[in-house]
Amino acid sequence: MKVLIVGAGGREHAMAWKLSKSGRVGKIFIAPGNAGTSEVGVNVDITVDDIPGLIKFAESNRVDLTVVGPELPLTLGIVDEFRKAGLRVFGPDRRAAELEGSKAFCKDLLRKYNIPSAEYEKFTDAATAREYLKTAALPLVIKADGLAAGKGVIICRTQEEAERAISLFMEERAFGNAGETVIVEEFLEGEEVSILAITDGTTIIPLAPAQDHKAVFDGDKGPNTGGMGAYSPAPVLTPAMEADILENILEPTIQAMEDEDRLYTGVLYAGLMIKNGKAKVLEYNCRFGDPETQPVLMRLENDLFEVLLAATEEELDEVSLSWSNNSAVCVVLASAGYPEKYETGKKISGLEKLSGRTDVIAFHAGTKKVDGEVVTAGGRVLGITALAASTVDAISKAYSAVESIEWDGVYYRTDIGAKAIQKI
Ligand code: AMP
Ligand code: GLY
Repeated sequence: MKVLIVGAGGREHAMAWKLSKSGRVGKIFIAPGNAGTSEVGVNVDITVDDIPGLIKFAESNRVDLTVVGPELPLTLGIVDEFRKAGLRVFGPDRRAAELEGSKAFCKDLLRKYNIPSAEYEKFTDAATAREYLKTAALPLVIKADGLAAGKGVIICRTQEEAERAISLFMEERAFGNAGETVIVEEFLEGEEVSILAITDGTTIIPLAPAQDHKAVFDGDKGPNTGGMGAYSPAPVLTPAMEADILENILEPTIQAMEDEDRLYTGVLYAGLMIKNGKAKVLEYNCRFGDPETQPVLMRLENDLFEVLLAATEEELDEVSLSWSNNSAVCVVLASAGYPEKYETGKKISGLEKLSGRTDVIAFHAGTKKVDGEVVTAGGRVLGITALAASTVDAISKAYSAVESIEWDGVYYRTDIGAKAIQKI
């Protein structure tokens, strides 16, 4: 079978790596991919939003299954177009992907169906939003409705910060149309956890829980990033809480989408805040998380191709997932300056020290090959992911591998997984 993976991040490298282990997958294409994906498949120079280009490629190369990594093509309707062309594709269609593409749609749905989430108000004009802020309790969270590359959420501890966020989104239009509508939301305290589930619209199978580290600096300080590291399992979630989340959050959401005539298939990623053992939804994403996918796929014992295929064939009820008892920890190596300005084109050294290892893998994100050498090409560059008998061992294995990698300006957090150890 031939598989096309759409995307270029660590998540896509992890998917390509895992699919390359399937006895049923003969060829893997990655569009556009990175230096790492070119080691497990064939990179194709087509951007993720060039939907006609991707369809043409899938048709002429007789691709059997396309897996879409990032949210942008999903919200643009890549799944609708592939299906129209008679091509098998894993992911939600455009109307279902609105769960991530529009925070207002998501919040309204959660409210309508009584799914636990923060209280909120929604505004389409800055003056009314400002009027509301005068009486709103602080801290509060202001969110741009549309996609903003992870930068559309601002936690405001003062009135000034809140007013500034309204100006940024609604007047300066920092994220264009994404800020036409804003959500002003109650601030939730607690511990964050991500739960990802695969669904064919009827059956929902949660993946092993993982915890992301969004802030750029140690101790969860500094601005949010796409994710500076992740680990799985996540001890903050007990099996009882997981069952509770499935029953009271994931299942009602999938049912709500069906009731709204927006059948949801693919990965549903719930960002949750846990307090006193109870979870509330912070956000939904319509795709695998990055970097959560890296440790999660390292622990998955099933053939990923069969799982994804079953999801596209509405046969997920026949699948049961099995997980390694080992722990996996992924430390993201980023370019100094990320998530703000950073330099690229730096030569990466030391990767060869990890080649051939099966317990530590360097998943590539922003990398490319120039004259046979691997150089940096993005903010998040590598996700060094280690598997070991315990989280403590996986952390030390990951960090000792991290030390063998170098480039001018490499930056990483030194406390990935520390929270998990406190919980054990
Ligand atoms: P989102 O993209 O909606 O998940 O927001 C990004 C990050 O902002 C989350 O991972 C949380 O760390 C934080 N956040 C979002 N909404 C809230 C909230 N209502 N209360 C506290 N923190 C939040
Ligand atoms: N790690 C956060 C995300 O994938 O959105």
